[in-house]
Amino acid sequence: MLFKSLAVVATAGLAVAQRPTNTSICDYYTTALLKNNTAANQLALLTLVVNTAVIGNYTPVTVGTGVPGILAKGTVNGTEVNLLPYFSGGLASSNRGGAMGVSVNFLDDGGAAPLMKNMPSNGNSSAQYLLLTHLYEYFGVLLGCSMQGGADYPGYLGHASMYEVHKFMDLSYAEVTYFISQVAASAASFGVATDDLTIVGTALNSAFNVRCAPPTTIIMSQGAQLNSICIDDTCPTAPNATCASYNATMEPAVSNSTSSATATSSGSGSGTSPSSTATGSSPATVTTGAAATVGMSFAAVAAGLFAAFL
Ligand code: HEM
Ligand SMILES: *[C@@H]1O[C@H](CO)[C@@H](O)[C@H](O)[C@H]1NC(C)=O
Ligand SMILES: *[C@@H]1O[C@H](CO)[C@@H](O)[C@H](O)[C@H]1NC(C)=O
Ligand SMILES: *[C@@H]1O[C@H](CO)[C@@H](O)[C@H](O)[C@H]1NC(C)=O
Ligand SMILES: *[C@@H]1O[C@H](CO)[C@@H](O)[C@H](O)[C@H]1NC(C)=O
Ligand SMILES: *[C@@H]1O[C@H](CO)[C@@H](O)[C@H](O)[C@H]1NC(C)=O
Ligand SMILES: *[C@@H]1O[C@H](CO)[C@@H](O)[C@H](O)[C@H]1NC(C)=O
Ligand SMILES: *[C@@H]1O[C@H](CO)[C@@H](O)[C@H](O)[C@H]1NC(C)=O
Repeated sequence: MLFKSLAVVATAGLAVAQRPTNTSICDYYTTALLKNNTAANQLALLTLVVNTAVIGNYTPVTVGTGVPGILAKGTVNGTEVNLLPYFSGGLASSNRGGAMGVSVNFLDDGGAAPLMKNMPSNGNSSAQYLLLTHLYEYFGVLLGCSMQGGADYPGYLGHASMYEVHKFMDLSYAEVTYFISQVAASAASFGVATDDLTIVGTALNSAFNVRCAPPTTIIMSQGAQLNSICIDDTCPTAPNATCASYNATMEPAVSNSTSSATATSSGSGSGTSPSSTATGSSPATVTTGAAATVGMSFAAVAAGLFAAFL
């Protein structure tokens, strides 16, 4: 099915007109590239975009110069970036609920090979499977996939707070910027229009690539969450920053988390959840202007004012 979809991509060409404002990015590009706007095709689109963002371009269809991928080394404004160790178990940077990060190999179920076949992993019970499927689901919400939520394309059921998921990675502005750049490059490689890339890039940067952002609602059923992924002092501070609410959840060992390599890898993908314990997000904090602003951007995605691509 995915192969068929890909063949369609290959022949569809990219005579993509301007996206109407009442159609989400996900819906629009699913229709443009895969024809039928079904849940399965929306998942196929997100699979193409996420897999390409992670491992670099692998499909016969590539608009532009190619995508190195999140796992490849890169340079952002002269700063070298290497995100692979966070995914390969090379750093004790995953939150498994304890006071310190632990090492997990997320390339434990085939690595790049199944991704190149438009799959998340070879099997379906690995750390790799969980991570990739969660990325398909989360970015589908960001991009406004209207058919998501059923068996063909489940809604996001991973951990709610992106801060809790990523906090032991102590990520820098250059690192998060590189990740987002690869998502954008992947989308661009499938013909997503510049205006739509800008919308998505801006939304990702303002929601995740800032320090101390107030709680925002991305997944409606999960409510407002601390979602800053950019942590260290190179990160721009969010408007209406609520650093105190982050410190309240921060473990003492956080500053040491990424330096200690090679803890034991659990690699099972079924580890205990990150402690997304309610992080003192009082209702007052939740309803700050910044939360409303970002929340509105993503709600707009959902409503179809912008799009989807990843
Ligand atoms: C726009 C920015 C980003 C978004 C929206 C994002 C989103 C996500 C999501 C939804 C998950 C799955 C969480 C779960 O399974 O419960 C995840 C996990 C992960 N992300 Fe990110 N991410 C971003 C940036 C980054 C960056 C810059 C890195 C750098 C290496 C990174 C590394 C990881 C890793 C290693 C995991 C697995 C964590 C674990 O299961 O412990 N992410 N991310
Ligand atoms: C968007 O608006 C156009 C024209 O106003 C209409 O034909 C189309 O059905 C609408 N699409 C959706 C998904 O609402
Ligand atoms: C779109 O869906 C309809 C109904 O399910 C099906 O008959 C048709 O073959 C599909 N078209 C494509 C291009 O997949
Ligand atoms: C997971 O994989 C196993 C073995 O390949 C298969 O029997 C099972 O149906 C799969 N489960 C799901 C939910 O895909
Ligand atoms: C890169 O440099 C430009 C121009 O100085 C600056 O605006 C931007 O914030 C920098 N980005 C990163 C990730 O450092
Ligand atoms: C935590 O507290 C320190 C010291 O008061 C402060 O510099 C920092 O901005 C706070 N927030 C975060 C997320 O580190
Ligand atoms: C962090 O690392 C420093 C230097 O390696 C060490 O002295 C300190 O005890 C560590 N702190 C924690 C909480 O592990
Ligand atoms: C910051 O909060 C104030 C007061 O709630 C609000 O008016 C303003 O729009 C917010 N700024 C941003 C960038 O969200």
